[in-house]
Amino acid sequence: MQVFVTEKALKNRISFLKKKGLSIGFVPTMGALHAGHMQLIKASKRKCDITVCSVFVNPTQFNNKEDLIKYPRTIEKDKQMLKENDVDIVFFPTKEVIYPEGMDLNVDIDLEGLDELWEGEFRPGHFKGVVQVVKRLLDLVSPEYLFMGQKDFQQFTIVNMMLKKMQIDTELVVVPIHREKSGLAMSSRNVRLTVEYRRKALVLSRMLKYVKNNYSFENINSLEDYVLKQIKKEGLRPEYFKIVEGKYLKEVSSVNEDSVIAIVAAWAGKIRLIDNIIIK
Ligand code: PAJ
Repeated sequence: MQVFVTEKALKNRISFLKKKGLSIGFVPTMGALHAGHMQLIKASKRKCDITVCSVFVNPTQFNNKEDLIKYPRTIEKDKQMLKENDVDIVFFPTKEVIYPEGMDLNVDIDLEGLDELWEGEFRPGHFKGVVQVVKRLLDLVSPEYLFMGQKDFQQFTIVNMMLKKMQIDTELVVVPIHREKSGLAMSSRNVRLTVEYRRKALVLSRMLKYVKNNYSFENINSLEDYVLKQIKKEGLRPEYFKIVEGKYLKEVSSVNEDSVIAIVAAWAGKIRLIDNIIIK
């Protein structure tokens, strides 16, 4: 496993590998790696000759200063995990490498309001930061395939829109949500949950499953009301629970909608959790 910090070293290595005709798979992360991230690595290793993983806690996507400060950082453990999973290249850039002074890295595309809904509403500016960092990383790595998790449904939907609108020659591969045995969706922030909230948080995956099993177009409103009540009853503070169509995350407008998902965000004490389920 090779570890790079600078733009030049990374680009040199990648252009050498590309000249040899090897395909590149890329897994961007913010570290504090867990088995969910490893599913992305495994998917990339199955599909591509070379797997590149980046670890960078991107300040521009944090709308909450405390969340950025308290975001778990476990560099040595991350390196160990990546090594054990046979990652070829790890990119550990500094802030100065990603955002060099004087370089205009704003990504000016119309996200058709998708960045203002749900996560965007509760985390203003978040997706602008995500799009900015993913574009910058793609410029550095220029992979054939980009691997992202279904866990962040709105994030991959927005990144996919960016790939299309900017005609970036990288294909997005979405990897299903990896869960703990209890049902809790794995997340870097889970390590900050108290024992009590870890148990209470199970209401989210339990309710998503319930909704999948009981979904019908006519039932949407009553299911949403029921689930919000259950989440509150468990002592979590929901920001939203919504059943939406899977393309623009807007209201389900007909029985014939091709793709329907349920999305949720809730505070478990001081930790904000998100989860979702594909209904159809
Ligand atoms: P991070 O939260 O570290 O997640 C990195 C990738 O792992 C994302 O694509 C995310 O959806 C995926 N992932 C996280 N938990 C998962 C789980 N339980 N199952 C499957 N995949 C999971 O998302 C980010 O970082 C950042 O926003 C980033 C894209 C790196 C830009 O900074």
